[in-house]
Amino acid sequence: MVSMSQATASPSPNSHPLTQDELKTLVGRAALDYVVRGQWVGVGTGSTVNKFIDALASIRHEIPGAVSSSLASTERLRALGIEVRDANEVERLAVYIDGADEIDGKGYMVKGGGAALTREKIVAAQSDRFVCIADASKQVPVLGKFPLPVEVIPMASARIMRQFAALGGRASIRMAAGKPLVTDNGQQLIDVQGLAIKDPLAFEAEVSQWPGVVTVGVFAFQRATICLLGTDAGVQTLHFD
Ligand code: 5RP
Repeated sequence: MVSMSQATASPSPNSHPLTQDELKTLVGRAALDYVVRGQWVGVGTGSTVNKFIDALASIRHEIPGAVSSSLASTERLRALGIEVRDANEVERLAVYIDGADEIDGKGYMVKGGGAALTREKIVAAQSDRFVCIADASKQVPVLGKFPLPVEVIPMASARIMRQFAALGGRASIRMAAGKPLVTDNGQQLIDVQGLAIKDPLAFEAEVSQWPGVVTVGVFAFQRATICLLGTDAGVQTLHFD
């Protein structure tokens, strides 16, 4: 069940529709309200999170620092004077703030468009709550329109792609500069098109135990409990029970 509160942050008084970049800035700033002062914060990865990191710099003296989900976010956090600790050094995080490629009406998400899904799931798992920040284009009734990212051990990729084909998906290895992309963890990614993920919990449970799968980009066990959604009317806050 999802409940919604009114817009909490307003767009500019100009009447032009906000660009996607402006919507990301809006939700990135709104996420500051969920950072628990005096505590370490979990930080995701992506263009929306970059807006949050920029905003976080304004309260950097009010928090000890961050646990980051990627080398890219770590670099940005440190460049802005925010201390970053390894996940093993901080037992619990009050909140994890991250974007999503898709989010449904229960707070289940597809993530990994930025290739950071494994560390994102790790940091989310040690956080008391996941606050998703996204523009309204990320809302979907059923997960699967966005190609599903899956991090894999390279020697298992061909077999895993065949397993997705048997489910009706079309899988391909993600490339970067003509070569298979290598993740922060030294592994590869496959992207799977053509799936309709109607039961995200069952899907995540099943695919996670296929040999060679490091992380599947369905975040059902680590779902969002709050989503700050950027809309032309401002930030809508969705609460998922
Ligand atoms: C990175 C992610 C991102 O959260 C997701 O791709 C959304 O990114 P953006 O905010 O750039 O749209 O999962 O692995």
